[in-house]
This record gives sequence, structure tokens and C-alpha cells, in this order.
Amino acid sequence: MDLIEDLGWRHACKEMNGKKVPREKIDRILEAINLAPTSLGLQAYKVLVIENKDLKEQIYKEACQQQPITGCSHLLVFAAFTQLTDKYLDEYFSLIERKRNPGKEWCDKYRKRIEFFRDKNGDNMENWLARQTYIALGIACVIAANERVDSVPIEGFDKEILNKILNFPEQHLSATFILPLGYKDLELDWMNNQPKVRKDLKDLIEVIE
Ligand SMILES: Cc1cc2nc3c(=O)[nH]c(=O)nc-3n(C[C@H](O)[C@H](O)[C@H](O)COP(=O)(O)O)c2cc1C
Repeated sequence: MDLIEDLGWRHACKEMNGKKVPREKIDRILEAINLAPTSLGLQAYKVLVIENKDLKEQIYKEACQQQPITGCSHLLVFAAFTQLTDKYLDEYFSLIERKRNPGKEWCDKYRKRIEFFRDKNGDNMENWLARQTYIALGIACVIAANERVDSVPIEGFDKEILNKILNFPEQHLSATFILPLGYKDLELDWMNNQPKVRKDLKDLIEVIE
């Protein structure tokens, strides 16, 4: 299928109808999320896949009153690590060794580069780590559309409350956004079939030859 057509099909769904998305489609979206690029390849985040009705309702009531939270089939919560610990790097490098086995010298050099970057960036690390999750968001939206699954990225939630509900602080995690996946309610989703509001390409893109 044509990805441009898929992007034209998708929209930020405002109301979902509760219908279940088949497991294979969810698995493909999760696989795509895992294949998203991240700076230095760190993937320093987690993705929660919430199917539990009570938990969705609690999130809706306490942290985010947007209908797709309860109307969706699967609620994805993206959460970035708030710090890059030595333990995290140990695990990352044992993964690199298992997958590529590039040798100790290469690993030591690459690790030093990451540690230098981390130590230099101090307070900005949390922000930088959070930004990585948005790349996966873009990819998730494309693949969901390709599977004709509706979605809506949501940042409009009370972060402190959501983090608390999901026990994120004790795992050094913090929610960046939520992505409900499901099917639009054809009567109530007022965004369905609305024309896209996008700039003309000439106003967005400047070509320098
Ligand atoms: C990071 C991010 C956060 C967003 N947060 C919300 C939100 O809290 N609620 C909502 O209804 N839409 C939210 N949106 C959807 C945007 O409003 C929507 O993508 C934009 O208006 C363009 O419309 P379209 O996606 O239908 O093409 C968010 C989008 C992004 C990328």
C-alpha cells in the first residue's frame, strides 16, 4: 500500500467505538515501534500496552479526560527513562555484543563516547531522552494507518498523576505521550473525513540548489 495514501487516510481520532483490534495488527505496530531509530541506538524508553478496562478508566478519570482513552482497544503509553544509568549502559552493551559481537575495543570506545555525551549534557538528558520517543510515535502512526487502525497521539494529560498511577517514578520513567489504538466511532468522531489542514509544500520546504 502507498504510504502517502495511508498518511492521508489517518487523522487524530476523537472518539473510538471500543471494537477490538486483532492481535496481529497490534504486533505489527509494536514491531515497527521497536524498529524506530533512536539517537545512539539507546531505545531508552518503555512502551506499556494497556488492555485492562479498569486501568483505562482510572487513567481517563484521574489523568486524561479524552474519550479514546476508554474507547480504544489498546492504550499505548510511551515512557522515557529520566536518566541514563551505568546499569542501563551495561545492558545495552551486552545486547550489542550478543547481536553484533564487535569486540571489546569497539565497545569501550563507543561506551566512552556515550558517557562523554551523557556527562556533558547533565540536566538536559531527561529532555533529550524524552525526545527519542517521538520518533517511534511517528512510525507507530504510519504503521497503524497502514493497518487501517485509528490512533491519536495524546500529550494533553496530567503527567504527574499518570506517572503515579503507572508507578513510573520508582522505575525512573516518565510518560511522554499516550497513543490509543482502535476504531473510530463513525457518528461521534467529528474529525473523520475533515480535510487536512496542512501548509502548501512551498511554504514548508525551501530547496537550496
Ligand atoms: C505530540 C502530539 C500530541 C498531541 N496531543 C493531542 C491531544 O492531547 N489530544 C488530541 O485530540 N490530539 C492531539 N494531537 C493530535 C494533533 O492535534 C493532530 O495530529 C493535528 O491537529 C493534525 O491533525 P491530523 O493528525 O488529524 O492530521 C497530538 C499530536 C501530537 C503529534
